[in-house]
Amino acid sequence: MSNGNRGSLADKIEEIVSQTLKEIDRASALAELQSIEISCLGRKGHLTGILRTLGSLDPQERPWIGKLANQGKERIKERLRLRQVELEHKELRKELAKETIDITLPGRPVRRGVKNIITSVVEEITEIFVGLGYRVAEGPDVELDYYNFEALNMPPDHPARSLWDTLYVTDKVLLRTHTSPVQIRYMEEHEPPIYIIAPGKVYRRDYDISHAPMFHQIEGLAVDKNISMADLKGTLEAFTRAVFGPEARIRFRPSYFPFTEPSAEVDVSCVICGGKGCRVCSDSGWLEILGAGMVDSNLYKYVGYDPEEVSGFAFGMGVDRIAMLKYGISDIRLFFENDLRFLEQFR
Ligand code: PHE
Repeated sequence: MSNGNRGSLADKIEEIVSQTLKEIDRASALAELQSIEISCLGRKGHLTGILRTLGSLDPQERPWIGKLANQGKERIKERLRLRQVELEHKELRKELAKETIDITLPGRPVRRGVKNIITSVVEEITEIFVGLGYRVAEGPDVELDYYNFEALNMPPDHPARSLWDTLYVTDKVLLRTHTSPVQIRYMEEHEPPIYIIAPGKVYRRDYDISHAPMFHQIEGLAVDKNISMADLKGTLEAFTRAVFGPEARIRFRPSYFPFTEPSAEVDVSCVICGGKGCRVCSDSGWLEILGAGMVDSNLYKYVGYDPEEVSGFAFGMGVDRIAMLKYGISDIRLFFENDLRFLEQFR
């Protein structure tokens, strides 16, 4: 092979190499790099073609032309690698930019719910009694006639049963009309001293602005040695002052419940007029908030206590009524109609 030939082959190699390097630098995507690599170094690539002809060269020229070609190949491979890394970074940056979150945008606030006002009042009253050393007890809403009536000193056909407009499930099963059955259930399972409150739902066949078929009571029961009516009065005074404020007073009116003897209805001085007389208290100055009394000793026989040994008091209050008085709400149905405009006021 002549010198001219040799020279032109070397030139051709240099030409291919510098051309390819330029293309690599200009490539703007990874796919482009790949096709450049194939067209130069692939099986049918320009440089591969030249390398294949080396065998037919003059043995004197073969080494340096071969070296030139191989160095060119290495330079191209090296440049391909660098450009590949660059382009990979570039694409990653593009991807990240696309996925960035604009943290300067204000968030979408999550709408927070509100506790129903009845729940809050139950919790508040529970706190007060827990502070006085009481424990919280519970009983079922669907109750046996035995606990709702019989063991509370109302055998079948007892006339006092009609004091409650009872919703029956079967002859012997009913929706509890008051929380008093929890008294019996708790005494059956525990020995005195007992100091409990039992908050819960109760049910009666009734519906108007001050009566709902489902409402809430909190039962209280204290059984110990030497418990007297004075203890009941002191406890309820402490309770009313905690709920309605230090100037609230209470009074006891004689009443009747089959499970307490003596029994009383307890009034609190009107929270609206302070006792002077207004529309809410029908000019009496007083509002009825609970029933109470000394536990009738007959109950102790049902639960196996010795009536000579222990005495106690019990009370039952209407939570909904207390909430209405405390917050000046005139219709009990508002608590259960789930109108958010009403419920959200008690945040
Ligand atoms: N259980 C009675 C009622 O619902 C209230 C009460 C409870 C009275 C405890 C006395 C003692 O009317």
